[in-house]
Amino acid sequence: MTLTDTLKRPLRDLRISVTDRCNFRCVYCMPREVFGPGYQFLQRDQILTFEEITRLARIFVRHGIGKIRLTGGEPLVRRDLHLLIGMLAQIPDLDLTLTTNGSLLPRQARILKEAGLKRVTVSLDSLDDEVFKAMNDVDFSVAKVLEGMEAAASVGLGPIKVNMVVKRGLNDSSILPMARFFREKGYILRFIEYMDVGHTNGWRMDEVVPAAEIIKRIHAEMPLEPVDPNYPGEVAERWRYKDGGGEIGVIASVTQAFCSTCTRARLSAEGKLYTCLFAIKGFDFRDLLRSGATDEEISAAVARVWMQREDRYSEIRSQNTVSLPKVEMSHIGG
Ligand SMILES: C[S@@+](CC[C@H](N)C(=O)[O-])C[C@H]1O[C@@H](n2cnc3c(N)ncnc32)[C@H](O)[C@@H]1O
Ligand code: SF4
Repeated sequence: MTLTDTLKRPLRDLRISVTDRCNFRCVYCMPREVFGPGYQFLQRDQILTFEEITRLARIFVRHGIGKIRLTGGEPLVRRDLHLLIGMLAQIPDLDLTLTTNGSLLPRQARILKEAGLKRVTVSLDSLDDEVFKAMNDVDFSVAKVLEGMEAAASVGLGPIKVNMVVKRGLNDSSILPMARFFREKGYILRFIEYMDVGHTNGWRMDEVVPAAEIIKRIHAEMPLEPVDPNYPGEVAERWRYKDGGGEIGVIASVTQAFCSTCTRARLSAEGKLYTCLFAIKGFDFRDLLRSGATDEEISAAVARVWMQREDRYSEIRSQNTVSLPKVEMSHIGG
């Protein structure tokens, strides 16, 4: 049965963060000054087991979830992730995808595909090594991420989508080279406005490049036209090249908030359910799972949390909300 919240938004998709750890230190997500030596990551017994995740996923699917995206942190650093994929792939009628920084795809693409993963989204913020390394802050080269994309495409994990977070003054000069390159490749590039998630990235509004500006810059060289969404509530606004050279997307969560159509819940690695990316508190399902609750009790808790949901942070964002405490992106899952 479909659940709706206080603003009549149905529960449709679930993001599951499988780890709060990552092998990158992207400056907009896990800045080294905060996530450096001494940072307390979750311990093994604090994160949900694959069995616990699968049990919850089955309950969510009964509530109308049709799509699950695994994320993190970096999902591919979670040991034996393919085993979880294999367990989730048994759930009928589920669209199962994953977002990754691509670094471990050359090694894992095949086993993930064989386990039942359908598609991947790979993040890449520039084609220029100097810029990309300044963003990932672990000296990781562009070529290796491209290799990961190729590995995924070659085993059938496509069509590949590429996520690029745009931060003014850091990688906005990469917008056009990225658009040209991925148009040629036939991958769908999505530009994401830099967001004020968490409170460690020192976000400032003047570092956001509005989606409208991104579209204008690309349109001036490669004319674009808008495309209808694939389904109601799709977060990326779609555009296609007028000459038939494929499409791109923009995710304008800062300048054009889409809270009114948001159908997404997020489960953190430690089993807390968040009903907004900008939330402060999540509902603790790990406690419930480990206290011996029945499926019916867990299911009733999911319904309660969603039916009480009233979040619409991006619509009410202001200078005052930016400094509010929020959960980190690497924790809640982007
Ligand atoms: C948190 S990451 C997790 C998955 C994986 N590690 C990756 O980077 O693709 C998910 C997505 O969130 C994006 N992201 C992280 N911090 C962001 C921010 N402050 N604003 C906008 N997008 C952000 C990343 O670029 C990535 O595409
Ligand atoms: S965006 Fe992804 S790759 Fe970058 S630090 Fe965050 S979790 Fe890691």
